[in-house]
Amino acid sequence: MSVPLQLLPSASHARGKRSLVTCRLKCGDACLGPECNQSANPTFRSIADAVLSRRSALGLGVAGALAIAVAPALGGPRGAAAAAAGSSTMPFEPIAPVPVSVDAMTVPTGYRWVPVIRWGDPVLPGAPVFDAEAQTAEAQARQFGYNNDYTDVIPDASGLTGVLVANHEYCNEQLMFPPTTDPDRLAEQSRIMKMAQGMSVVEVERDAVGSPWRPVIGPRSRRVTVETELELTGPAAGGALLRTASDPSGRVVLGTLGNCAGGTTPWGTVLSGEENFNSYFRTPTATPATARYGLADRPTSTRWELEDPRFLGTDGHENEPNRFGYIVEIDPQDPTAPAMKHTAMGRFKHEGANVRIGEDGRVVAYMGDDERGDYLYKFVSKHRFNPGSGPGARKQNKKLLTEGDLFVARFTGDSPAGEIDGSGALPSDGAFDGVGQWVPLTLGGRSMVPGMTIEEVLVHTRLAADRVNPTKMDRPEDVEPHPTTGRVYVALTNNSNRGTRHALDEANPRTANRDGHVIELTETQGASGTAFAWSILLLCGDPSSPATYFAGYPKELVSPISCPDNVAFDSEGNLWISTDGQPGTLGLNDGLFKVALEGAERGRVEQFLAVPRDAETCGPIIHDRERTVFVAVQHPGEDGTWGAQRSLFPDYGATGPGTFAGPRPSVVQVLPA
Ligand code: FEO
Ligand code: CA
Ligand code: CA
Ligand code: CA
Repeated sequence: MSVPLQLLPSASHARGKRSLVTCRLKCGDACLGPECNQSANPTFRSIADAVLSRRSALGLGVAGALAIAVAPALGGPRGAAAAAAGSSTMPFEPIAPVPVSVDAMTVPTGYRWVPVIRWGDPVLPGAPVFDAEAQTAEAQARQFGYNNDYTDVIPDASGLTGVLVANHEYCNEQLMFPPTTDPDRLAEQSRIMKMAQGMSVVEVERDAVGSPWRPVIGPRSRRVTVETELELTGPAAGGALLRTASDPSGRVVLGTLGNCAGGTTPWGTVLSGEENFNSYFRTPTATPATARYGLADRPTSTRWELEDPRFLGTDGHENEPNRFGYIVEIDPQDPTAPAMKHTAMGRFKHEGANVRIGEDGRVVAYMGDDERGDYLYKFVSKHRFNPGSGPGARKQNKKLLTEGDLFVARFTGDSPAGEIDGSGALPSDGAFDGVGQWVPLTLGGRSMVPGMTIEEVLVHTRLAADRVNPTKMDRPEDVEPHPTTGRVYVALTNNSNRGTRHALDEANPRTANRDGHVIELTETQGASGTAFAWSILLLCGDPSSPATYFAGYPKELVSPISCPDNVAFDSEGNLWISTDGQPGTLGLNDGLFKVALEGAERGRVEQFLAVPRDAETCGPIIHDRERTVFVAVQHPGEDGTWGAQRSLFPDYGATGPGTFAGPRPSVVQVLPA
């Protein structure tokens, strides 16, 4: 595979990390315009704690790697793969980076890819065969939604059946519908977009373990749309800030919006983060809270405010936006149980949530607020996990996220003052590292923020956090605890404002951080404690740049990687990272990368796949024991239009019922050829 490298951004991505279309539709230009966090918190604070340093394996890493590898050009760490192959459950030779012009799903030699389910495929009984030319809201409500992001595949005991759970973040109207000026058709397209977002639970089956999954319609099949009832839980539920003219109870909300990453809980439910919910609301009245969340008085791209007063924010609906921006929990095994929005976990632009069971049995959830200069959070449940497998235990565990304590992170670096110069050069102590504190926002059901009630803290969480001086981070995305070491991996995708609006600090050390970084965090008082140590694992980017760092691993042996977004782990404890933004930074299609964390291989980044043109890699799920990886391919061909599509993924010219001569966001399975 000798695809020539092209490290220049394409014209369509020249302004930043993402395409301009992605910025507008996905986050309401939050990644381009002035960031929402205008608070004056310092980004660096001195706390006289001991520093735990873990750099001892670095020398071994370099020596070990040089012994086994033939240094390749930047085109990929070819030649180094053989050493890993013998010990890996999922051996592969890294692919060469794929230029942005390529509209193909690229997987390693010896592997193939198959779509498991595509936008428009039937989910519920009665769903018509997908026909993009004649799409209706009624059809879409029964079909797989658009722009899948978080995904999990949960097999049943037999291994031959199971459920696939996916969320649907937003819509690309210009790709989905033929252009029209007919008001009736525009109104129908607006309604279709309401049905294309939310979540899907899809029953799946396969012929044998390790063979491709396919969707079937079954009793657990389910769609959650922008008209589905969800239940608000926790201390803010029922309170004045959540009541509206449509829901005086303040406990039942229609729909979930902007769902991004997520996590699967040890009790088998799926969590999903409501992220850029603000861009769906027209908000005539400005307050400090609306400003901090990016709510504004401007027409929305979905036009829902024209027909649905909930999205206009007047006449008793002023609180409607307060009912979005939460962690959603859905039980894929029980289609009758409403999905829940957990106010105890705070309201912000939730990337996602990943939970683990702490040493004391309480559940700990890690969460990022994905905006430039926003914060990293942790939730600790009041009650303990019930490890039983019966219905009683499940019922109990499904309440764990309704009550608990909420914390926000403050990072402190240990390097001498003045050594963080923004260049990415390591400080004299050899590491970007330090300690940190989890600062409480709520404890024991009470607000810890002077002047704010617990309801206010949980609904206006960004305003509450601003008051306790947390560290402004470079867009915290997925935050996930390692299944065996317990260390927590924080993906920070980028921040064009670092060094200007947001001062440099040791945890966010690069000016205008274009390529993002990954922090490794170690809880030093147990999972539910309030102290941690941290260090930077990766400073992403073109490895030939001196501003990059790969845990000390030889740079000439790693795949280029930029804008880390979602993370996952395989059964051997390797970290897998999917990216969102490489077209704009490296001129490369986004991809999925394996990163070794232990021993001589620590820091070795190997690209496993690349998604098609303009797409972002989401999911991912690593079922390496079955030699299978799943990714959600989001917004393929995003810079195209109905009449000038830039991607034909995944149908690629196939014709006949249910196919489409344009891109379809899809969940893809990669397995041995
Ligand atoms: Fe939806 Fe933070 O990416
Ligand atoms: Ca340091
Ligand atoms: Ca994301
Ligand atoms: Ca993303």
